[in-house]
Amino acid sequence: MTDKIVFPQGFLWGTATSSYQIEGAWNEDGKGESIWDRFSHTPGKISDASTGDAACDHYHRWEQDLDLMQELGLPAYRFSISWPRIMPEGRGKVNQAGLDFYDQLVDGLLARGITPFVTLYHWDLPQALQDEGGWPLRSTAEAFVDYADVVSARLGDRVKHWITHNEPWVAAFLGYGMGIHAPGIQDFQQALAASHHLLLSHGWATPIIRANSENAEVGITLSINDVLPASPSPQDYAAAREIDGFTNRWFLDPVYGRGYPTDVVEWFDRVHGARLDMVQEGDLAVIAAPTDFLGHNYYTRTLARASVADNLPPTRTTDGSEFTEMGWEVAPRSLYRLLNRFHFEYQIPAIYITENGASFPDKVCKEGHVHDDRRQAYLKEHFRAAHDAIQCGVPLRGYFVWSFMDNFEWSFGYTKRFGIVYVDFETQQRIVKESGKWYSNVIAQNGFED
Ligand code: FCB
Repeated sequence: MTDKIVFPQGFLWGTATSSYQIEGAWNEDGKGESIWDRFSHTPGKISDASTGDAACDHYHRWEQDLDLMQELGLPAYRFSISWPRIMPEGRGKVNQAGLDFYDQLVDGLLARGITPFVTLYHWDLPQALQDEGGWPLRSTAEAFVDYADVVSARLGDRVKHWITHNEPWVAAFLGYGMGIHAPGIQDFQQALAASHHLLLSHGWATPIIRANSENAEVGITLSINDVLPASPSPQDYAAAREIDGFTNRWFLDPVYGRGYPTDVVEWFDRVHGARLDMVQEGDLAVIAAPTDFLGHNYYTRTLARASVADNLPPTRTTDGSEFTEMGWEVAPRSLYRLLNRFHFEYQIPAIYITENGASFPDKVCKEGHVHDDRRQAYLKEHFRAAHDAIQCGVPLRGYFVWSFMDNFEWSFGYTKRFGIVYVDFETQQRIVKESGKWYSNVIAQNGFED
């Protein structure tokens, strides 16, 4: 006997992308250079030596991409704005052509009945600001507020869902601490300062976006991962607590009014010699600005082992589990656990899964289809976990699959495909994968047969 899983009425389904990963047109119509342009143009930084110069050429093909979203019946779309398209120098002069691009994109979405969710920062900082020092400087947070003001003033009459930042943990610690992402710096003191200024800019921008966009919902997207001890040993338990502090509580606690967790402050100092000396009076109250929702990007869980150096990057090894092309363990129950944690531990009023998806080695078959059964199974199990959490009372309002289409996967270039739409990067042809057709059907039924 099959059961049907049905989501609450009004549950919002969509897909997500980000500017640098799809747009291309890296130096057109007055756009300034971003740190990702600079980083990808630097030999040795991207595993397949590719760049986002052309990416999915979405900047020129946006109408056709929106048509495809409409054909699939996707009710919502999360995309990000390229800051250097709007302010080529990071602050000051506004590039009207950049604003016009997003203006028409928003109109195009609304004309097709698709609700826009706008992310203001998905990692493509103007290089001009990095030349001054980037996120480790307080002045970058101030520049972000001006940028957020300009964008929300222009789009705020039509865009009613705003995300200040995407995964500040990644922006700060992969960008400035481990050097895996742009701007490629390896300095934990800078990374710590970057994390604080990212959060500060979120807190400053939130009321400004509200003032520019009547009745808007404003939130932040965090990458929280479920950190579990790899064994019941007290050492592994302690390692799990440390990684949970570093990757999760470091962001959740200040955003939800608890300030920075003291054990993590102490850990940064002890393990990385990094001090929290850039915090000024009143900053924590700013960071705790009331928000309307938490965006949660979910991919995998982390098993912590005390025996593995400092667990950086967090170890993800479990015997007998399934792993995606990223080497990430498929762990849907951890999504369920985290959603409950947000609800019961932090009393978060509303949650959107702003990203969830998987990379698998997709191939186009002779008939021109992409049979990505594993992605479909992955999504189904994660939808089920989300549904279970809703049954527990978790206020989950919507779900964005990462990604609408295959794109530039940061330091992995074009080697990792996450889309529900396949992209041939030679011809820019789009092919809806079988998972995309299935997802379209899930949306139409607001659920699926179990
Ligand atoms: C997230 C990013 C997104 C994409 C996915 C796979 O961390 O926000 O841009 O790269 O991972």
